[in-house]
Amino acid sequence: MKISSFLFLSIFLVLVVFSESHDRDFLLPRPPIYSGIMTKTEFTLRFGFAYHEHLHERKGRFLMIREVCSYDDRVDFRSTEGDGLNFGVTSIQDDWFMDVTITEEWVKPETSNGSVALRITGVSNNKDEEAYVSVYTYVSISGDQSTQTLTCDSKTISGHSNDYGDFELVVKSQNQEPIALSYLGLNSSHPYEVSSTISENMGRYKHAWQLPNKTLGAVSDTNVGIIEKVFQTPFTLTVYLQSPSDPIPESFDCDDQKEKYKDDFDQKFATKFPNVAPENTDFAKNVLNTLLNGLSYFSGERIIKYPNGTVQTFENSELFSFIPNKVYFPRPFFWDEGFHDMIIHRWDPELFKQIIKSWFNIQVSDGEWSGWIAREQVIGKEAQSRCPEWAWTGIVGTMNPPVFYITLEQFIDENPDEIAFLKEMYPKLQMTYNFYFKHCHIKSDQYSFKWPGRTYGGDFGGTLDSGLDDYPRYHLEFDTEIDIDLQAWMASCSSIMKKFASLVGDTTNEALYQSNYEKTTNILFTKNWNDEKSLYQDYIEPGLFSDHTGYLNLFTLLLKLEPIDDGKNDRVDAILDLLLKENSIVSEIGGIRSLSVEDSGFLISGNYWCGAIWINLNYLTLSGLKYYEPYYPKAKTIRQNLENILITNMKKEYEKESGGIFEIYLPYDGEGYSNLPFAGWSTLILLIMAQIY
Ligand SMILES: *[C@@H]1O[C@H](CO)[C@@H](O)[C@H](O)[C@H]1NC(C)=O
Ligand SMILES: *[C@@H]1O[C@H](CO)[C@@H](O)[C@H](O)[C@H]1NC(C)=O
Ligand SMILES: *[C@@H]1O[C@H](CO)[C@@H](O)[C@H](O)[C@H]1NC(C)=O
Ligand SMILES: *[C@@H]1O[C@H](CO)[C@@H](O)[C@H](O)[C@H]1NC(C)=O
Repeated sequence: MKISSFLFLSIFLVLVVFSESHDRDFLLPRPPIYSGIMTKTEFTLRFGFAYHEHLHERKGRFLMIREVCSYDDRVDFRSTEGDGLNFGVTSIQDDWFMDVTITEEWVKPETSNGSVALRITGVSNNKDEEAYVSVYTYVSISGDQSTQTLTCDSKTISGHSNDYGDFELVVKSQNQEPIALSYLGLNSSHPYEVSSTISENMGRYKHAWQLPNKTLGAVSDTNVGIIEKVFQTPFTLTVYLQSPSDPIPESFDCDDQKEKYKDDFDQKFATKFPNVAPENTDFAKNVLNTLLNGLSYFSGERIIKYPNGTVQTFENSELFSFIPNKVYFPRPFFWDEGFHDMIIHRWDPELFKQIIKSWFNIQVSDGEWSGWIAREQVIGKEAQSRCPEWAWTGIVGTMNPPVFYITLEQFIDENPDEIAFLKEMYPKLQMTYNFYFKHCHIKSDQYSFKWPGRTYGGDFGGTLDSGLDDYPRYHLEFDTEIDIDLQAWMASCSSIMKKFASLVGDTTNEALYQSNYEKTTNILFTKNWNDEKSLYQDYIEPGLFSDHTGYLNLFTLLLKLEPIDDGKNDRVDAILDLLLKENSIVSEIGGIRSLSVEDSGFLISGNYWCGAIWINLNYLTLSGLKYYEPYYPKAKTIRQNLENILITNMKKEYEKESGGIFEIYLPYDGEGYSNLPFAGWSTLILLIMAQIY
């Protein structure tokens, strides 16, 4: 009796000692590949899969391996389910160059945040002919090899990683014996991308492409292990990535677990977004899981360059953020993220807090440029490998709009008990706010603002800092220019900082921010208002404005800067009239266009910010309309009409064959355009359907 309970106790202790405890975000989706999982740690361990159709060279085509998302693959891939943290489902319909559809599901057992099951299913797209598919599953580790190991054979990949601890990849089940089986271990300089390693090392063997069944180089240097299995469709393969001391239990059932997470997701969705109409629920849920599937972590090298030419490299930076799109933009953007988080702070407040903290942690922390945050973040080798080298470096001084302040204000308004969190963030918020105030004003007046990186736009480049890229500005640059959008952002930011100062009890600065708010709005109302046209525009010099009609005219309304004045503010009326004007900025099919169809700059540089319909600006406008409508009845009519247009059109574009969520919608017919599947701010359509502003 005594001995057995002693035994039991020691077994129990051994289990407790060896099973590492991890947070729910220890394993995350990988940003630039169709499907895979990585550790949210410095010495990243990556788990993924790649495939190609085996005999497709019969069609006279080159062998193309699918792994890293690429437009050239011409596949219809989409996230169909998932919550970013516990499970995800991706489908890749590959019928341009191949004839298969691959579905990949990852599920974390509830009993462990540190292991994951990956199930890969393949079917032929051709009713009359089955396909042969090579499926590669791999594990790779980054960082110093001296304390890490990885070994690989045709059955398993196992080893020890600094951050994961002991790991193993085991095949759990497959519905058929593979037609061919092979493996490869090696030391790769790019462990985040294995498809090139596969194609460099595969050989023709018994009519099948196979890996050489060996480890190239010393076993102690191996950082990538790959197992290839060739199956005939239809096939299913399930592999587990786990810790050998805390394996996924025998009783684990992928489907049961997935169903449980789906139920949790559905219930949470119903609680968080009760106003979504039943006929829109499926669409709305897919919008949300597409966004959530872009939850990403980056670690490694980050480079910035000061205006004096000094380049500074931070070796161990990290950033936790969403990404807009896996194909073209598998990296985080400051201004995009503020919009993504308008959804996230409502869906998962803790996740939002981690993300915004992570962003403000990489601001320049002292000196002349303190508070600055790069608008685009290329952190670590994997992110670098996905964009040209010139884009790796953040240019100090050029910065995107401070939309994050609005997001945080919403969060604090909805969670008044989060003052401790606000206090923690406050010094960093002050620093970034001060950056704009110090570096973005014109020479002659510290309360008048102009984008530092401003160019004409249109054919001649763009004002990337503004976030509205090629939106046209005045064709000549004047020292006196006051950019309406930046002026409005600074007014809005001052008013938010005043509120934050009051909440954290910083009375000295509360008065300063209030005064900044008054001075900046006063300039807006006097200088940026073009009385002759009854429009807000970029002010160039006395009597001269940048004469364009589009998103810039709406900023005082969408940032809620106009006094309500009991419904008697003529400028509000004028903006509302612009939104009612036919054949101008509102498309009755798609939503508000970035430029009026009658504007001289309309479509001048293509379909970007000089015509196309953008959902983030439409969302902010709806939010502004909602704010003014108790006093301006026509604001309500406009809002309801616009909601209807946006929801109907985006849903239509989503439901089309090979449709989805797009980055932009075309100005005439509302057709979805570019960067499919876009997981970025177009997902704000969810909040529109949920009536959350
Ligand atoms: C997973 O992580 C969450 C917190 O991030 C924690 O509450 C939970 O207990 C963890 N689950 C397991 C099984 O370790
Ligand atoms: C690799 O090993 C597997 C399993 O032992 C075998 O079936 C396969 O033919 C081998 N492939 C090569 C290229 O040697
Ligand atoms: C393994 O790869 C790394 C990165 O390319 C390289 O620095 C290292 O020298 C390689 N080790 C061996 C033994 O080739
Ligand atoms: C350039 O500017 C940075 C930041 O202000 C500063 O740290 C650095 O010393 C400057 N370099 C030179 C050569 O002046």
